[in-house]
Amino acid sequence: MFITFEGTEGCGKSTLIRHLSTALFDQKIPHVVTREPGGSSLAESLRSLILNQEMDPITELFLYEAARTEHFKQTVLPALNAHQWVLCDRFTDSTIAYQGFARGLNIKMIEGLNKIATEGRSPDLTFFLDLSVEEGLARAVDPNKFEKAGVVFQKKVRKGFLYSIKKSKKRWAILKVKNKTPEQVCAEAMRIILKKAK
Ligand code: TYD
Repeated sequence: MFITFEGTEGCGKSTLIRHLSTALFDQKIPHVVTREPGGSSLAESLRSLILNQEMDPITELFLYEAARTEHFKQTVLPALNAHQWVLCDRFTDSTIAYQGFARGLNIKMIEGLNKIATEGRSPDLTFFLDLSVEEGLARAVDPNKFEKAGVVFQKKVRKGFLYSIKKSKKRWAILKVKNKTPEQVCAEAMRIILKKAK
Protein backbone atom coordinates (compact mmCIF):
# COMPACT_ATOMS: atom_id res chain seq x y z
CA MET A 1 0.00 0.00 0.00
CA PHE A 2 1.13 3.48 -0.86
CA ILE A 3 -0.45 5.84 1.68
CA THR A 4 -0.12 9.63 1.72
CA PHE A 5 -1.10 12.20 4.34
CA GLU A 6 -2.33 15.68 3.56
CA GLY A 7 -3.75 18.68 5.37
CA THR A 8 -3.25 22.32 6.18
CA GLU A 9 -0.54 23.44 8.60
CA GLY A 10 -0.58 22.09 12.13
CA CYS A 11 -3.14 19.35 11.45
CA GLY A 12 -1.04 16.64 13.13
CA LYS A 13 0.18 14.57 10.17
CA SER A 14 3.60 13.87 11.57
CA THR A 15 2.21 12.66 14.90
CA LEU A 16 -0.28 10.39 13.15
CA ILE A 17 2.42 8.94 10.91
CA ARG A 18 4.61 8.21 13.93
CA HIS A 19 1.78 6.40 15.70
CA LEU A 20 0.78 4.47 12.59
CA SER A 21 4.33 3.36 12.01
CA THR A 22 4.42 1.87 15.49
CA ALA A 23 1.06 0.16 14.90
CA LEU A 24 2.26 -1.30 11.57
CA PHE A 25 5.48 -2.43 13.20
CA ASP A 26 3.44 -4.25 15.87
CA GLN A 27 1.50 -5.99 13.09
CA LYS A 28 4.80 -6.91 11.42
CA ILE A 29 3.95 -4.99 8.28
CA PRO A 30 7.20 -3.87 6.61
CA HIS A 31 7.01 -0.22 5.73
CA VAL A 32 8.96 2.93 5.00
CA VAL A 33 8.14 6.36 6.40
CA THR A 34 9.04 9.26 4.18
CA ARG A 35 8.11 12.85 3.39
CA GLU A 36 7.91 15.54 0.76
CA PRO A 37 9.67 17.69 0.00
CA GLY A 38 12.52 15.35 0.85
CA GLY A 39 12.82 11.63 1.38
CA SER A 40 15.99 11.06 -0.65
CA SER A 41 19.42 12.60 -0.40
CA LEU A 42 19.03 15.13 -3.23
CA ALA A 43 15.39 15.82 -2.38
CA GLU A 44 16.35 16.66 1.23
CA SER A 45 18.90 19.19 -0.07
CA LEU A 46 16.20 20.71 -2.27
CA ARG A 47 13.89 20.82 0.77
CA SER A 48 16.12 23.21 2.67
CA LEU A 49 16.28 25.46 -0.39
CA ILE A 50 12.53 25.44 -0.95
CA LEU A 51 11.28 25.97 2.58
CA ASN A 52 13.59 28.70 3.72
CA GLN A 53 13.45 31.34 1.05
CA GLU A 54 11.09 33.28 -1.13
CA MET A 55 11.23 32.55 -4.86
CA ASP A 56 9.17 32.80 -8.02
CA PRO A 57 6.17 30.43 -7.81
CA ILE A 58 7.27 28.65 -10.99
CA THR A 59 10.75 28.10 -9.57
CA GLU A 60 9.11 26.74 -6.44
CA LEU A 61 6.92 24.41 -8.48
CA PHE A 62 9.88 23.06 -10.47
CA LEU A 63 11.87 22.47 -7.27
CA TYR A 64 8.99 20.55 -5.70
CA GLU A 65 8.59 18.45 -8.83
CA ALA A 66 12.34 17.89 -9.10
CA ALA A 67 12.46 16.79 -5.46
CA ARG A 68 9.44 14.55 -6.09
CA THR A 69 11.02 12.88 -9.12
CA GLU A 70 14.11 12.00 -7.10
CA HIS A 71 12.13 10.90 -4.07
CA PHE A 72 9.75 8.79 -6.11
CA LYS A 73 12.49 7.00 -8.06
CA GLN A 74 14.99 6.63 -5.23
CA THR A 75 12.70 5.86 -2.29
CA VAL A 76 9.02 5.26 -3.03
CA LEU A 77 9.21 2.99 -6.06
CA PRO A 78 12.02 0.74 -4.74
CA ALA A 79 10.10 0.26 -1.46
CA LEU A 80 6.85 -0.59 -3.25
CA ASN A 81 8.70 -2.97 -5.57
CA ALA A 82 10.15 -4.68 -2.49
CA HIS A 83 6.58 -5.13 -1.16
CA GLN A 84 7.03 -2.60 1.60
CA TRP A 85 4.29 -0.18 2.43
CA VAL A 86 5.06 3.49 2.06
CA LEU A 87 3.72 6.17 4.40
CA CYS A 88 4.43 9.57 2.90
CA ASP A 89 3.95 12.93 4.64
CA ARG A 90 2.55 15.10 1.80
CA PHE A 91 2.63 14.24 -1.90
CA THR A 92 1.14 15.43 -5.21
CA ASP A 93 -2.06 16.80 -3.65
CA SER A 94 0.00 19.34 -1.70
CA THR A 95 1.31 20.77 -4.97
CA ILE A 96 -2.22 21.20 -6.31
CA ALA A 97 -3.25 22.87 -3.03
CA TYR A 98 -0.19 25.08 -2.35
CA GLN A 99 1.24 25.91 -5.78
CA GLY A 100 -2.10 25.63 -7.58
CA PHE A 101 -4.84 27.00 -5.35
CA ALA A 102 -2.75 29.16 -3.01
CA ARG A 103 -0.04 30.45 -5.38
CA GLY A 104 -2.42 30.56 -8.32
CA LEU A 105 -0.56 28.42 -10.84
CA ASN A 106 -2.46 26.49 -13.49
CA ILE A 107 -3.92 23.27 -12.10
CA LYS A 108 -3.78 21.31 -15.36
CA MET A 109 -0.09 22.15 -15.72
CA ILE A 110 0.59 20.92 -12.17
CA GLU A 111 -1.39 17.74 -12.75
CA GLY A 112 0.74 17.14 -15.83
CA LEU A 113 4.00 17.65 -13.92
CA ASN A 114 2.79 15.47 -11.04
CA LYS A 115 2.15 12.71 -13.53
CA ILE A 116 5.64 12.97 -14.98
CA ALA A 117 7.30 13.00 -11.55
CA THR A 118 5.40 9.93 -10.34
CA GLU A 119 5.24 7.98 -13.57
CA GLY A 120 1.48 8.27 -13.27
CA ARG A 121 1.34 6.28 -10.03
CA SER A 122 -1.27 7.56 -7.55
CA PRO A 123 -1.37 6.68 -3.86
CA ASP A 124 -3.69 3.80 -2.93
CA LEU A 125 -5.05 5.82 -0.03
CA THR A 126 -4.74 9.44 1.01
CA PHE A 127 -5.72 10.74 4.44
CA PHE A 128 -6.93 14.29 4.82
CA LEU A 129 -6.52 15.46 8.39
CA ASP A 130 -9.36 17.86 8.74
CA LEU A 131 -8.74 20.71 11.18
CA SER A 132 -9.69 24.36 10.80
CA VAL A 133 -6.99 26.61 9.42
CA GLU A 134 -7.13 28.83 12.51
CA GLU A 135 -6.65 25.93 14.92
CA GLY A 136 -3.83 24.49 12.87
CA LEU A 137 -1.91 27.76 12.64
CA ALA A 138 -2.29 28.28 16.39
CA ARG A 139 -0.41 25.00 16.89
CA ALA A 140 2.50 25.86 14.60
CA VAL A 141 5.83 26.31 16.36
CA ASP A 142 8.82 27.59 14.37
CA PRO A 143 6.68 28.53 11.34
CA ASN A 144 7.97 27.96 7.78
CA LYS A 145 7.22 30.46 4.99
CA PHE A 146 3.82 28.90 4.25
CA GLU A 147 2.73 29.11 7.87
CA LYS A 148 3.92 32.71 8.00
CA ALA A 149 1.73 33.43 4.93
CA GLY A 150 -1.27 33.25 7.29
CA VAL A 151 -4.96 32.40 7.35
CA VAL A 152 -6.02 33.66 3.91
CA PHE A 153 -3.27 31.63 2.23
CA GLN A 154 -4.09 28.51 4.25
CA LYS A 155 -7.78 28.83 3.38
CA LYS A 156 -6.85 28.68 -0.30
CA VAL A 157 -4.73 25.60 0.46
CA ARG A 158 -7.71 23.98 2.15
CA LYS A 159 -9.89 24.73 -0.89
CA GLY A 160 -7.27 22.98 -3.01
CA PHE A 161 -7.46 19.82 -0.95
CA LEU A 162 -11.27 19.86 -1.11
CA TYR A 163 -10.98 20.12 -4.91
CA SER A 164 -8.74 17.03 -5.06
CA ILE A 165 -11.01 15.10 -2.69
CA LYS A 166 -14.01 15.86 -4.87
CA LYS A 167 -12.09 14.77 -7.95
CA SER A 168 -11.10 11.32 -6.72
CA LYS A 169 -13.30 10.52 -3.71
CA LYS A 170 -12.43 6.81 -3.60
CA ARG A 171 -8.76 7.43 -2.87
CA TRP A 172 -9.41 9.74 0.12
CA ALA A 173 -10.28 9.18 3.77
CA ILE A 174 -11.16 12.23 5.83
CA LEU A 175 -10.13 12.21 9.48
CA LYS A 176 -11.73 14.83 11.69
CA VAL A 177 -9.04 15.55 14.24
CA LYS A 178 -10.57 18.27 16.40
CA ASN A 179 -10.79 17.24 20.08
CA LYS A 180 -9.38 13.78 19.35
CA THR A 181 -6.30 12.29 20.96
CA PRO A 182 -3.49 11.10 18.68
CA GLU A 183 -4.35 7.55 19.78
CA GLN A 184 -7.97 7.93 18.67
CA VAL A 185 -6.95 9.36 15.30
CA CYS A 186 -4.43 6.55 14.84
CA ALA A 187 -6.98 3.85 15.70
CA GLU A 188 -9.44 5.27 13.19
CA ALA A 189 -6.77 5.52 10.50
CA MET A 190 -5.63 1.96 11.18
CA ARG A 191 -9.18 0.66 10.77
CA ILE A 192 -9.45 2.39 7.40
CA ILE A 193 -6.06 1.09 6.26
CA LEU A 194 -6.73 -2.52 7.20
CA LYS A 195 -10.14 -2.43 5.49
CA LYS A 196 -8.56 -1.04 2.34
CA ALA A 197 -5.71 -3.59 2.43
CA LYS A 198 -8.10 -6.58 2.41
P1 TYD B 1 6.81 21.03 6.69
O1 TYD B 1 7.61 21.83 7.65
O2 TYD B 1 7.10 19.57 6.58
O3 TYD B 1 5.30 21.34 6.99
P2 TYD B 1 4.12 20.35 7.35
O4 TYD B 1 4.49 19.76 8.68
O5 TYD B 1 2.92 21.24 7.40
O6 TYD B 1 4.05 19.32 6.24
O7 TYD B 1 6.99 21.71 5.28
C1 TYD B 1 6.41 21.27 4.13
C2 TYD B 1 5.83 22.49 3.47
O8 TYD B 1 5.92 22.36 2.06
C3 TYD B 1 4.38 22.69 3.83
O9 TYD B 1 4.19 23.99 4.28
C4 TYD B 1 3.66 22.49 2.53
C5 TYD B 1 4.69 22.74 1.48
N1 TYD B 1 4.53 21.97 0.22
C6 TYD B 1 4.16 22.64 -0.95
O10 TYD B 1 3.95 23.86 -0.93
N2 TYD B 1 4.04 21.92 -2.10
C7 TYD B 1 4.29 20.59 -2.17
O11 TYD B 1 4.19 19.97 -3.25
C8 TYD B 1 4.68 19.90 -0.96
C9 TYD B 1 4.96 18.44 -0.98
C10 TYD B 1 4.78 20.65 0.21
